[in-house]
Amino acid sequence: MTNGKTTEVAPAGAGSAGATARGYLDMDLLRFTTAGSVDDGKSTLIGRLLHDSRAIFEDQLDAIEEATRRRGDTGLDLSLLTDGLRAEREQGITIDVAYRYFATPRRKFIIADTPGHVQYTRNMVTGASTADLAVILMDARKGVLTQGKRHGFIASLLRIPRVVVAVNKMDLVGYSEGVYREIVREYTEFSAKLDIHDITFIPLSALRGDNVVDRSRRMPWYNGVTLLHHLENVSISADRNLVDFRFPVQTVIRPHQDFRGYAGTVVSGTVQPGEEIVVLPTGRTSRVERIVTADGDLERAESGDAVVLTIADDVDVGRGDMIVRKKNVPQVGTRIDAMLCWMDEEVLDRSRHYHLQHTTQFVQAHVERLEYRIDVDTLHREQADTLGLNDIGRVRIETARPIFFDSYAANGATGAFILVDPRSNRTVAGGMIRGAVRDDVVEQGSEHPGVEEARTSPNVRWEGWNVDLAERESRNGHRAAVVWLTGLSGSGKSTIAREVERRLFEAGCQTMLLDGDHVRHGLCGDLGFTREDRTENIRRAGELARLFFHQGCITLCTFISPYREGRDSVRAILPEGRFFEVFVEVDVATARARDPKGLYAKALRGEIDNLTGVSAPYEAPEAPDLRLRTAELSVEEAVDRVLTGLAERGILPTPPGGPLVPPRGSAPRG
Ligand code: ADX
Repeated sequence: MTNGKTTEVAPAGAGSAGATARGYLDMDLLRFTTAGSVDDGKSTLIGRLLHDSRAIFEDQLDAIEEATRRRGDTGLDLSLLTDGLRAEREQGITIDVAYRYFATPRRKFIIADTPGHVQYTRNMVTGASTADLAVILMDARKGVLTQGKRHGFIASLLRIPRVVVAVNKMDLVGYSEGVYREIVREYTEFSAKLDIHDITFIPLSALRGDNVVDRSRRMPWYNGVTLLHHLENVSISADRNLVDFRFPVQTVIRPHQDFRGYAGTVVSGTVQPGEEIVVLPTGRTSRVERIVTADGDLERAESGDAVVLTIADDVDVGRGDMIVRKKNVPQVGTRIDAMLCWMDEEVLDRSRHYHLQHTTQFVQAHVERLEYRIDVDTLHREQADTLGLNDIGRVRIETARPIFFDSYAANGATGAFILVDPRSNRTVAGGMIRGAVRDDVVEQGSEHPGVEEARTSPNVRWEGWNVDLAERESRNGHRAAVVWLTGLSGSGKSTIAREVERRLFEAGCQTMLLDGDHVRHGLCGDLGFTREDRTENIRRAGELARLFFHQGCITLCTFISPYREGRDSVRAILPEGRFFEVFVEVDVATARARDPKGLYAKALRGEIDNLTGVSAPYEAPEAPDLRLRTAELSVEEAVDRVLTGLAERGILPTPPGGPLVPPRGSAPRG
């Protein structure tokens, strides 16, 4: 047997039940997925494969003949075979993919297929993460199109080790070698930039059966093998993750008082009775007691096995929890860096929340940032505001409560997820996790020796908001934002912010003002002015601002915030286009002369340390969203600029002076 699995994991002393349970899987098995554009003939190709390899069950054949006849056609419409899958899907398989099993004397096959003709990308993302191979269909008449490149790129993102480019409809180009060679040349050039190491081209006609199962005599110039021959013989390496034990709990089984077990599939790694485990998110530890299956207990379970685990101690475990080995835990966190393949007609909306499905967990999530979109033709990164149908981009996602994940590169099972639109219930995107957004990795609790101290308790669950931001904004009549005023003490931050807030308030806006002096009284009363303390001060202030932001407020923040890194990290936790850095600029001499709090005088007398601009640095913003030189502007002018800026950036519906935010005649306060 060529499947590395059997040689690698054959458990010494495995119970006979285990051996039987694995018997079926031990047969050489190839999982593959297909991708093509509309009319590339995907359904016909799969139908042809099944038909010519005699893999179709008799009753299915009869049904197809019958259906074809009813349509008044003669012969067999092979696409009906795969279209029959649609019924399967409509019977409520949650992820939009159906699996087709067939076998030849040489090998068993599983085709992950999405019957829809439109959502071709979806097929790859939802069905392909466990695929050994991807068949990418191209229409010989059309040559290499963006779509074919996209599928190659997705295959490489999904780390599918092998790709077959099936150049279909060769009959319609007169079986021309030249046409085929040109496609091979062009696609080879493109795929060299991708992470695909094994790529095979096959010229074929699914309709006429050339080179699908039987060799074609119409393309004597082609010396290679047929598609089926390739699928039957391509080597499958066991690149499954057998190291990191991950067991997402599907259901709690409690038939009677004396038995409590956790059902699920081992998605990676292996486990044996007696091993020490940790339950996430509670962090409780215990030992595996038994590995139960319908055929009896196992001495060992491994990736792919559906089992029921019982554990020694009476710890609380529920659906969506994950059981892992004590010394090998995944990352736990609420913020992830991921590649996202968007597959819905409705574009990504960063102000909305989606349901993120990851292993057996469902959590509320939103895309807080779109780093870039990939131009699949050139593979260049491009700036973008959103992702549309079939777009691929790199994002930061925030989940309402911690998820337990690995990078997709390390573990396909715990590194992949999908996003579902809660309104339409459609799967709108598939994603591959690159890692945690830095600063947000929550290691498991200190009760486990050898495991790092937690910064956030894994027991903290954030349930998200029941009222989402878009709803709040539509009621408020303006969008939420964080306006961050930075500058030296005495630059005028507070004066401007207080007046901006007054104007917004009078116009009926939801506002919040977070001022350094106020925040330092309570929340940050324990902090001083060292670089470390200021960093923590800004971190807390930023988190606070984010909460008010999600409450729909135009949140005005006035902090000296002298370090660029600190300001940038606040920007990073907010959706793009919602954080505005306002540099309230003044030269140190003017600030000293103003010295509203007498701080500069004190510093000169040596009574205080670390005063920004005197004995501590101020790193001026390089590209602030707005720059207010307060030595040259009146308070009124500065305030107007802030309001105009907000209107121009779509936060306020009308410019100041319009009905929403009338200018005030009176002199600025405070
Ligand atoms: S920050 O640097 O951490 O952003 P923040 O804006 O919160 O500072 O607080 C600055 C306020 O703290 C000043 O307005 C001033 O009233 C007070 N303060 C006291 N000592 C200092 C100091 N050494 N440097 C700056 N501000 C100080």
